[in-house]
Amino acid sequence: MISRASFERDGFLVLPDFVSPEACDALRTRALEWVARGDPSEFSVFSAYLAGEAAATEYIHDSADKIRFFFEGDAFDAGGNLTRPKELALCKIGHALHDCDPVFDAFSRSRQFEHLAKSLGLRKPLLAQSMYLFKQPGIGAEIGCHQDASFIYTEPTSVVGLWTALEDATVDNGCMWALPGGHRSGLHSRFVRNGRSDEFVVLDPTPWPDVGFVPLPAKKGTVIVLHGLLPHASKANTSPHSRHAYTLHLIDGDLPYAADNWLQRPADNPFRGF
Ligand code: FE2
Repeated sequence: MISRASFERDGFLVLPDFVSPEACDALRTRALEWVARGDPSEFSVFSAYLAGEAAATEYIHDSADKIRFFFEGDAFDAGGNLTRPKELALCKIGHALHDCDPVFDAFSRSRQFEHLAKSLGLRKPLLAQSMYLFKQPGIGAEIGCHQDASFIYTEPTSVVGLWTALEDATVDNGCMWALPGGHRSGLHSRFVRNGRSDEFVVLDPTPWPDVGFVPLPAKKGTVIVLHGLLPHASKANTSPHSRHAYTLHLIDGDLPYAADNWLQRPADNPFRGF
């Protein structure tokens, strides 16, 4: 049962057993098949994009309607060699698994997710972005506090994240942390295209509070729904266990999509709904 009232109060919902263990396993198997086929010399490093490197920026821009692979920042040694097998060194796959692969398409466009999107108030839900998140042991890095609307902005804000735990997510392996009610404090920044290197534009310089964040441990099959303005983060994986997850970002197609969002689909391959 979806509680719209608690979503609007807290900015998130935790829905245990929303997805079957078999569906989680199928997604994980499929992701690893994609990784096995991929050539790591063609992959990118996510932190290189955030650091403004031109090649990494081009690679990620081009991922809007493709399946592309992003290593963790610590994936390579000083000589440029992978420090572990490629499947244990990846940060994520993005950003159009839902449009490019039939298994991810069926998972992402389930009737359950469609019903969930509409019950949360998205009048014309569109699937904007998907990411397979690895958070591998010993290398899966912290994801700093952010609001998803900084990255996928409509006017007004409509983005909703559907984060599925494909394995048990715990405090030790890097589960989600969120600031209950923090979605009511407005958008703090936008991440926008700026030529060859994208950048943050600060809208509200107020720092995130040091206290109040709560961990959201999630058993395999749990879906965490995130309001686009909710401050959330995850810590580094300090455990011996991986924390695979799949996240899908939905927007309301009735609202204008910002032309300077980093994520831009080609005109002949726009966002699609369920
Ligand atoms: Fe996020």
